[in-house]
Amino acid sequence: MLIDDVKEILITQEEITRRCKELGAQISSDYKDSCPVIIGLLKGSVPFMAELIKYIDIDCRLEFMDVSSYSGTESNGDVRIVKDIDCSIKDLDVLIVEDIVDTGKTLAKVKELLYSKDARSVKVCSLLDKPDRRIVDIEAEYVGFTIPNKFVIGFGLDFNQKYRNLPYVGVLKEECYK
Ligand code: IMP
Repeated sequence: MLIDDVKEILITQEEITRRCKELGAQISSDYKDSCPVIIGLLKGSVPFMAELIKYIDIDCRLEFMDVSSYSGTESNGDVRIVKDIDCSIKDLDVLIVEDIVDTGKTLAKVKELLYSKDARSVKVCSLLDKPDRRIVDIEAEYVGFTIPNKFVIGFGLDFNQKYRNLPYVGVLKEECYK
């Protein structure tokens, strides 16, 4: 069972749902006069994006990008665009949906790319924020939960592609990655 590898549950499914309702209401109010393009970063953002958009009750478009930078528990810092968006975002408001902001390198690169496509604005909504690990000076405008410097899994977050399907955010037992 996957739960046998979980040291502690950090954020429950109920807490995530409650926070998504708050974030969705805030985003709906902030973007009420525009039709934002909401871009999920594959694959980690999928459960969060699916939950969040239930509570966004304004016109919006959904897109996905795949960006790779991680292997195991460490980012290699070399951010590659594996799948780009295939629509124009010129003069549109973009909201990136991400699972976690860690070093910030991924978001810095993605924001730069989206601005180079002439987006009017590019903001970020991240389920988790791990500020202790930040290397690049970047902040998400919308954050679900700020967490300590622990390697977490579940609700989209993986270790070597595993654990994404857990319905909560947990800390992985050290023996599972050492
Ligand atoms: P950054 O570029 O260092 O901010 O890394 C962002 C990406 O690293 C996230 O989208 C995650 O895929 C991955 N990541 C960072 N911290 C964790 C973690 O604690 N668990 C699982 N994945 C993580």
